[in-house]
Amino acid sequence: NFGSIRFDGKVAIVTGAGGGLGREYALELARRGAKVVVNDLGGSRDGTGHSDAALKVVEEIEAAGGTAMSNGGSVTDYDQMVEMVAKASEAWGGVHILINNAGVLRDKSFAKMEPADFKFVVDVHLNGSANATKAVWETMRAQNYGRILMTASSTGLYGNFGQANYGAAKLGLAGLTKTLAIEGAKNNIRVNTIAPTAGTRMTQDIFPEEAFKAFSPDKVAPAAVFLVSEDAPTNMIVGAGAGVFQAAYVTLTQGALLTGDDLSAEGVAAHWDSIIDRAGEIVPQSGSEQSMTILTKLQGR
Ligand code: NAI
Repeated sequence: NFGSIRFDGKVAIVTGAGGGLGREYALELARRGAKVVVNDLGGSRDGTGHSDAALKVVEEIEAAGGTAMSNGGSVTDYDQMVEMVAKASEAWGGVHILINNAGVLRDKSFAKMEPADFKFVVDVHLNGSANATKAVWETMRAQNYGRILMTASSTGLYGNFGQANYGAAKLGLAGLTKTLAIEGAKNNIRVNTIAPTAGTRMTQDIFPEEAFKAFSPDKVAPAAVFLVSEDAPTNMIVGAGAGVFQAAYVTLTQGALLTGDDLSAEGVAAHWDSIIDRAGEIVPQSGSEQSMTILTKLQGR
């Protein structure tokens, strides 16, 4: 019997919340007492067109007794994100939670991918999340409270054929998380990344019908809700799909210090097995922590 996680008095923004995972997050946060900005420009899967998808989710939340406002701004437009934050702050007195969830796909093998499709996908996922985050950052710092969730993907972490643009953007978000978790710490801003797997319009032609149902978005939402709650961790990458929850780490091996004749391409080749040996690997909590491991090795020589 756990204590229940509530969001009374908290204001949350969920981007791309007109459908799929974002809609589920918005409904769940509202159910637990948050006032929710439902952002979505309502385009198609490849990012073209517009609709009132956000408005429909607001109606659902209100019908269930919750509080929400819709926002049709595009995450690619920084000014629209600033305006969205200003409206939420004016109406509800702050913004405490941001879930960067908006996304598009333009899949093609890299051989066939146009530079414009690479740029567009990076612009929506990576720059879009940076835009929305920058728009709330000062508010969260001033409040000494912020919970931010980025959305990565198994493609970003591990790769997937046909998704070079998407994968680059998604791992970029894990990188953004790591530095913002460090910079936000002194103002009680916690930043995490979720890597979901869910049956949505984004995956409807990839998943067989049975899997599509087993991977429903409500089986991902518990992780997203926890990761933006009061007791959220920070600087984590969390996989979530079909009720399975995992943590992904960027690890570092103990490695090898090469000197003399070994400090050569041939030496790297000769010591390759020990360089990549995973025994005793660690998870550095900052870039300088990695540098420290180098210094420690030099001192121990
Ligand atoms: P979805 O297509 O239902 O949701 C994405 C939403 O973002 C759409 O409602 C779309 O209108 C909105 N959006 C697109 N461009 C926007 C823009 N410029 N401004 C505002 N809103 C915009 O797909 P799904 O699956 O719910 O995706 C949610 C997030 O989860 C995405 O970031 C996606 O990349 C990520 N993801 C999903 C996985 C899955 O298995 N469904 C796997 C890994 C990551």
